[in-house]
Amino acid sequence: MSRTIYITTPLYYVNAQPHIGHLYTTALADTVKRFHMMMGDHVYFLTGTDEHGEKIVKAAQKAGVDTQEFVDQVAGVFKGTWKQIDFTNDDFIRTTEPRHKEFVQKILKQVHDSGDIYFDQYTGLYCVDCERYMTVTELVDGKCPDHEVEPVEVKESNYFFRMGKYQQQLIDHIEKNPEWIRPKRFKNEVLSFLKQPLEDLCISRPKTRLEWGIDLPFDDKYVTYVWFDALLNYVSALKKNAAGDDVFDRYWKECNHFIAKDILKTHAIYWPTMLMAAGIPLPKQLDVHGYWLSGESKMSKSLGNVVRPLVFDEQFGIENLRYFFFREMKFGKDAGFTYELFVERYNSDLANGLGNLLSRTASIVKKNLGGKVPEQQDTTDAERPLIAMAKKLLETYPQNFDDRSFHVAVEDIRSLMAAADRYINEMAPWKLARDDERKKDLARVLYTALEIVRISAVLLSPIMPKKCVQILAYLGETRPLDGSVPFEELAGWGGLKSGHEFGDVPRLFPRIDEKKLKEVLESVEASRGVEEKAGSDDLEPIRDEITIDDFSRVDLRVGIIREGHLVEGSKKLIRLMVDLGEEKPRQIFAGIKSHYAQPQDLVGTKVIVVANLKPRKMKFGISEGLVLAGGGGGDSRLCVAEFDGDLEPGDTVT
Ligand code: ME8
Repeated sequence: MSRTIYITTPLYYVNAQPHIGHLYTTALADTVKRFHMMMGDHVYFLTGTDEHGEKIVKAAQKAGVDTQEFVDQVAGVFKGTWKQIDFTNDDFIRTTEPRHKEFVQKILKQVHDSGDIYFDQYTGLYCVDCERYMTVTELVDGKCPDHEVEPVEVKESNYFFRMGKYQQQLIDHIEKNPEWIRPKRFKNEVLSFLKQPLEDLCISRPKTRLEWGIDLPFDDKYVTYVWFDALLNYVSALKKNAAGDDVFDRYWKECNHFIAKDILKTHAIYWPTMLMAAGIPLPKQLDVHGYWLSGESKMSKSLGNVVRPLVFDEQFGIENLRYFFFREMKFGKDAGFTYELFVERYNSDLANGLGNLLSRTASIVKKNLGGKVPEQQDTTDAERPLIAMAKKLLETYPQNFDDRSFHVAVEDIRSLMAAADRYINEMAPWKLARDDERKKDLARVLYTALEIVRISAVLLSPIMPKKCVQILAYLGETRPLDGSVPFEELAGWGGLKSGHEFGDVPRLFPRIDEKKLKEVLESVEASRGVEEKAGSDDLEPIRDEITIDDFSRVDLRVGIIREGHLVEGSKKLIRLMVDLGEEKPRQIFAGIKSHYAQPQDLVGTKVIVVANLKPRKMKFGISEGLVLAGGGGGDSRLCVAEFDGDLEPGDTVT
């Protein structure tokens, strides 16, 4: 029976250009949509961009562009990239669109009216890259584990959502619906987090600090941004779709979110409790995948190790990368990406596997059977195991897709192709071709091998749509893959039609040689250098305004450097003993070694010291202040700010 399914990806932040992390989740949703279409299901697929918040404003400032112009430009890149790749999304929502803003305001008002939003003062640790507050237990060495930066302490009066009120209701829901969060270990992670009392959620920012959000309908001095804003897109996009229609009733109850584990808490805790407060039913499923890693780290813009989808498309072809995604990542676990591994998998599975199976079989047909697909023959014991394998896939393949075991689905197809390869080697059709008595055997062997290529291409078509359609067309299989032909017929044994005449054997998966890989690696290295350099030439934007009171909290003093030492084992730091007119000089570590390779030269220099900075424990000792230094673009030009006047250590600087 045909099903209706609503699939979503996260809305990607527009502070960065799309990279293969974003590409993966979107390709995942696209592949799942194409799979369901082939099964005859009806699918609605939503993606889009998340455009409000502090880090977007900062990125726009850094680019020296007006914020609206900036978000328009980057959202355009996301939209254009997905279009170029041919993703089948039915809508692309931007959080800056009126249809979305109006819906967010409507829900905010409703939840405020019902008493679940209140005003309060709060102090918390905020990670700007995650755009959320973090608890101390979430930090690793005092830093956000995802972005490897220390969160900042924020103290402000703000609006709060009574998230804690829905804690038990959420726990009950998760326990009653054990498949609601998949894979299971993410469900367990959420339940174990919910063992602690759930704090309420800060959902606003005063406009004095951030204007780039959606105005609160009940207080025009505040905006909401990021989570109470962005998550609601999954509903706002249905309430008014791209064509202006309300398709909420049709799709919402079938909603399946795809996300990576970085936004598990926001989707498994913030989102359902928000929906509970708004009286909207919860989505059906949350499918959580792991990270693509580059070395040990997650691929992300902030860590500077990204691969750009369209650049990759030119280098090696995006569909080959899509294949790599599903072959390599076990859903829910992290997986490593390197160009070398990609090329290895491509060469073994696609060039030597699928591509070779097609070309070696088609060449024999062209040479010996007049280039026409042979008649199907009675089967013998030799092909029975192969046919059984192919038939079994009719059940296991859809099941694996439903269970999100994509890598197993791919592995099964690979095993089928490998078995076909062994079969050809054993049956040696090139020998059969030399024996006029065995023409029927030759036809049987070639039909069997070609039929396996056809079935494999049908099954791989959600992952590599264009390449597989090319293979199928070459084989004379032109039936649509959109569900109009039942899957059992399309992927069932014997679908290959005899008599179709082959054209030239296509080279769909040419082998990638060492030279090509080396060229790509060199160009990647060169462009990385250019990006870094471009970054270092950027002028840092002037930060948000502060008041004179804010400034007066910083106690600046004149210090005289009494000693300067190199720090063994540190590339950046030097150790200074700085006299502030106190009982004894203070030890201060400064990251200015590249400019002061002989720190003793600084002795006698009068510098400006932040005297009331909380002492910091560093690997090499405690640092009891900060010496002001100036420069841009990394550490190479940093030099200390010095006085040449008649000043005493400890004098104030204002
Ligand atoms: O979190 N591996 O946006 P975002 C796998 N705007 N997937 C990755 C990845 C990686 N290395 N890097 C990114 C946000 N992703 C919010 C979401 S939703 C209402 C708001 C993918 O631009 C993955 O899907 O940081 C991850 O969850 C998402 O990009 C984060 O995108």
